[in-house]
Amino acid sequence: MRVGVLGCGNVGAALVELVRGRAGAIEARTGLRLDVTRVAVRTLSRERPVALADGVLTRDAAAVVADPEVDVVVEVIGGIEPARELILCALDAGKSVVTANKELLANHGAELFSAAEAAGRDLLFEAAVAGGIPIVRPLRESLAGEDVRRIMGIVNGTTNFILTRMSEEGVTYVEALAEAQSLGYAERDPTADVEGYDAGAKAAILASIAFGARVRAGDVHHEGIARITAVDIAFADRLGYVIKLLAVCERVDGPDGAEIGVRVHPAMVPKHHPLAGVRDSFNAVFVEGASVGDLMFYGRGAGGSPSASAVLGDLIDAAVNLRKGAHASIGSLGPARIRPIDDLVTSYYVNLDVEDRPGVLRLIAEIYERHGVSIRSMEQEGIGAEARLIFITHRAREADVRKTLHDLRELDAVHRVGSVLRVVADDGA
Ligand SMILES: NC(=O)c1ccc[n+]([C@@H]2O[C@H](COP(=O)([O-])OP(=O)(O)OC[C@H]3O[C@@H](n4cnc5c(N)ncnc54)[C@H](OP(=O)(O)O)[C@@H]3O)[C@@H](O)[C@H]2O)c1
Repeated sequence: MRVGVLGCGNVGAALVELVRGRAGAIEARTGLRLDVTRVAVRTLSRERPVALADGVLTRDAAAVVADPEVDVVVEVIGGIEPARELILCALDAGKSVVTANKELLANHGAELFSAAEAAGRDLLFEAAVAGGIPIVRPLRESLAGEDVRRIMGIVNGTTNFILTRMSEEGVTYVEALAEAQSLGYAERDPTADVEGYDAGAKAAILASIAFGARVRAGDVHHEGIARITAVDIAFADRLGYVIKLLAVCERVDGPDGAEIGVRVHPAMVPKHHPLAGVRDSFNAVFVEGASVGDLMFYGRGAGGSPSASAVLGDLIDAAVNLRKGAHASIGSLGPARIRPIDDLVTSYYVNLDVEDRPGVLRLIAEIYERHGVSIRSMEQEGIGAEARLIFITHRAREADVRKTLHDLRELDAVHRVGSVLRVVADDGA
């Protein structure tokens, strides 16, 4: 089975090496010999960590896709174009495609899946969500009949590394980010990771497969971790929580039928929840199903080698399917009815710095009451002439919490409204 690889960076180079190392074992098990015959890159002169035979490397990705000597195309270039156009051409030319490109699938998934269906070829993408962790195939196949209620994932290793360092070493956000950058976990421009865009793309893909609906990156409400402070981390710890950046996909009842909630934000996770123990740059995806109960998939969510392992699994599937004349189908994806974030109902952590004098607490309590937000617990600590108040609310509607925060900001006695975090309930809700 002749493989054309588009891109030879972190994932592409690791894949070429892995195919070379595992080809014999794969052939023994499947009867198929995988052979990387063409590799496309942008810069021919760049030094590569893998040795490639003469004539394999080219700058012409379109020629690799069109090459009749290539049976399966692996796209590990990244970004929207030319990746999108190349994948469409490959499918049109009757080739199966494996991609690791979350950004592309989260924005143009529907177009690409229908092109694959029309061509009767595979479009497989295990590495696009949580790198080396098998989650796409379990959702598509093992859990195809399951009533999946909710998925909560730690799907960005950079932010999990930063939050772990803040929690365990007491360093600031800025210090932890600098460390992540020096270790190569974070890009020089970390926006996609720390603002939740990367996790949002993965959430859109997970929601699409789990709920059979067309969920796009733009449908995902996302908030990042840059405003999390040592104070939030310390309070979370004292109250029995850790702070994690969660990607949440859930199916909920709405006024006109089922709705899909899909969002990325930092959240307080109870210390006994399995996701709370996911440290450093590790990823995990927690799936709640009506019949199967709770499942957790854990491992390396990024890195060349883990991601190449996921790509290779897809490559073998695509090769076996091609030989059989079969292809995997994503099934039909219907339109998604996205639940507005204002309708989210959950418990909240609110952190306020206020004037330390009699009567202030009553004014604050009145504002909560005015908007129907009920307080579950409150802690107070003195900070000089001010007091810091930490509230955990009972389950409340996001829109009501936003109105409460608006009115609190208007109050003279409230000097600062700090972090507002959603709290994962002890029962996971
Ligand atoms: N890195 C990870 O841990 C990880 C994990 C899961 C999924 N992914 C996904 O995998 C994909 C690749 O990521 P990566 O980290 O391997 O990226 P990368 O290291 O930046 O590599 C990209 C490769 O694509 C090549 N390229 C760029 N434009 C090209 C063009 N027009 N024609 C041909 N080749 C072109 C580059 O060539 P040059 O080398 O000549 O510049 C480079 O070899 C992305 O979609 C990413 O989201 C990555």
